[in-house]
Amino acid sequence: MESPSSLPATVLLLLGLWTARARALDNGLALTPTMGWLHWERFLCNTDCDSDPHNCISEQLFMQMADLMVSEGWKDAGYQYVCIDDCWLAATRDAQNRLQPDPKRFPSGIQKLADYVHSKGLKLGIYQDVGKQTCAGFPGSYGFYELDAQTFADWGIDLLKFDGCNYDTPNLLTEGYRNMSLALNKTGRSIVYSCEWPLYMKVFKKPDYTEIRKYCNHWRNYNDIYDSWNSLKTILDWTAQHQDMIVPAAGPGGWNDPDMLIIGNYGLSWEQQVTQMSLWAIMAAPLLMSNDLRTIDPKAKALLQNKEVIAINQDPLGKQGYQMIKVEDFELWVRLLSKGALAIAVVNRREIGGPRNFVLILAFLGKVWTCKQKCMINQLLPTHKDLGLQNCTSAFDIQVNPTGTVLLKLTAIEDTPLLENDIGTGTHG
Ligand SMILES: *[C@@H]1O[C@H](CO)[C@@H](O)[C@H](O)[C@H]1NC(C)=O
Ligand SMILES: *[C@@H]1O[C@H](CO)[C@@H](O)[C@H](O)[C@H]1NC(C)=O
Ligand SMILES: *[C@@H]1O[C@H](CO)[C@@H](O)[C@H](O)[C@H]1NC(C)=O
Repeated sequence: MESPSSLPATVLLLLGLWTARARALDNGLALTPTMGWLHWERFLCNTDCDSDPHNCISEQLFMQMADLMVSEGWKDAGYQYVCIDDCWLAATRDAQNRLQPDPKRFPSGIQKLADYVHSKGLKLGIYQDVGKQTCAGFPGSYGFYELDAQTFADWGIDLLKFDGCNYDTPNLLTEGYRNMSLALNKTGRSIVYSCEWPLYMKVFKKPDYTEIRKYCNHWRNYNDIYDSWNSLKTILDWTAQHQDMIVPAAGPGGWNDPDMLIIGNYGLSWEQQVTQMSLWAIMAAPLLMSNDLRTIDPKAKALLQNKEVIAINQDPLGKQGYQMIKVEDFELWVRLLSKGALAIAVVNRREIGGPRNFVLILAFLGKVWTCKQKCMINQLLPTHKDLGLQNCTSAFDIQVNPTGTVLLKLTAIEDTPLLENDIGTGTHG
């Protein structure tokens, strides 16, 4: 490894991140990041069931995904929420101003769809918007927050993705996100509340993450993901550049949402899919796949269902990881885990050449984590490998392919090497 001379400063800076964790939305949900499937990136606003019945946004699509989530092991791996995004609505509200789904594409109605999804042991998510219209131009929730929250509760909805298009002023954006949160609470039904509040607010002013965490279970900070490495890169870079602001906000009950998993689609190479899965685990991100479970290839499926990697994402300590150093086109990301363990992702950001060697010297992890006596090191991705027992003098060679990632888990064998007391409270009150 090229000498990380900036390491002590970085560590000191990051130790300051955990001083004040705000109270989370008190609905008892999302104590670990939400896992499921969301239609948007793969299926977009396809409303043309006449010429594309197989891929249009219809009740049949969600029933098929629910069936596969059970039969293909997704549910057992932890993926639980089947989520509808924009373009499910009819063009107008009904005579009582209630929302209604497009009658042709959802002929049985949302309540029946929720019953079906529940009968499979899964949960149903739906989409609305804080403004007068959704992003795709369907009726928005503005002026109807309580009525819409009650409609969702009556139907048996379990998650609401609340978009931020078509609002009039930043104040109304803030009030709308707050009011919908209160309206959901008032229904008495447990509904995960997924916000895009900071994404739309940051155009005007720095989002107040203490407040956002109080009202939302997760929140999008940055642009929609596209099916490309370029899109994935910009999300990782934005996250690293803003980690001082966003990492402290994450914890049980409330998470930063870097958007959907696009693994199993067209735009990412194998190495890049490994990078997405590894970094979504390090970032404690909601794992909402947007892909076609009817045709996904076995390699992508195995990656998405990798139990060891999911366990890192779902670690009960609930501390989001961060980028510790960036040197010579390598990025070292770390995440503290429960029971004194540590996850490390080494990303090779060079887009030319072959595998490159990164020397990981455990002593460099310094104050973040120490391997006092002995620790066990396992490589989880791209393939599982036991790297055996090591100590603080250990150094390893890690070969990382261009645009790929090696994900490691370090487990302490003796003592409690995690310097939790130096870092601040491990609880999220
Ligand atoms: C509503 O909020 C109260 C107080 O914050 C909380 O105790 C309760 O569990 C919430 N109910 C729901 C359904 O989220
Ligand atoms: C939010 O709720 C408050 C209190 O009921 C109300 O005064 C305000 O107009 C609402 N704002 C929006 C945007 O609905
Ligand atoms: C660390 O491991 C090396 C090689 O196995 C060994 O020589 C060394 O004594 C160990 N150091 C400590 C502090 O345990």
